[in-house]
Amino acid sequence: MPKNTISANLRKKLEQAAIRVMKNAHAPYSHFHVGAAILLTNGKIVSGCNVENASYGMTNCAERTAIFTAVAQLGPKIEIQAVAVTNDHGVACSPCGACRQVIYEFGPDATIFFQGSAGPKQAHITELLPEGFRLQ
Ligand code: THU
Repeated sequence: MPKNTISANLRKKLEQAAIRVMKNAHAPYSHFHVGAAILLTNGKIVSGCNVENASYGMTNCAERTAIFTAVAQLGPKIEIQAVAVTNDHGVACSPCGACRQVIYEFGPDATIFFQGSAGPKQAHITELLPEGFRLQ
């Protein structure tokens, strides 16, 4: 899978969108606010935050909020070029397994920007999710 390249400017814009949306997070249980922004191949940026629930398993991560919002706004033909993930603790935070699979559905060539254990990191979705599931 070829790696798509995102300019430093665009990466910054995407990360800023992710930081901005963190303030809307509903995270009264974990107190861990997460923001995600997705860059679509048509140049649009859509963002989302985590939305927790008293029934913890109903929580929606920031990444999936952003992707589901984009589908609701723009339809199912969206193509994700890149995703940026930020959190308000400044700690390592890569997309969870469920979000990786959802990113892969709409972005099999997506680049993911996130905080790794050794600082800011970028990875191709297939590095984070080898052998992602697709229905042919
Ligand atoms: N969370 C995200 O929104 N995205 C991630 O990549 C990791 C975790 C949220 C889920 C939950 O609301 C909180 O962070 C703590 O797990």
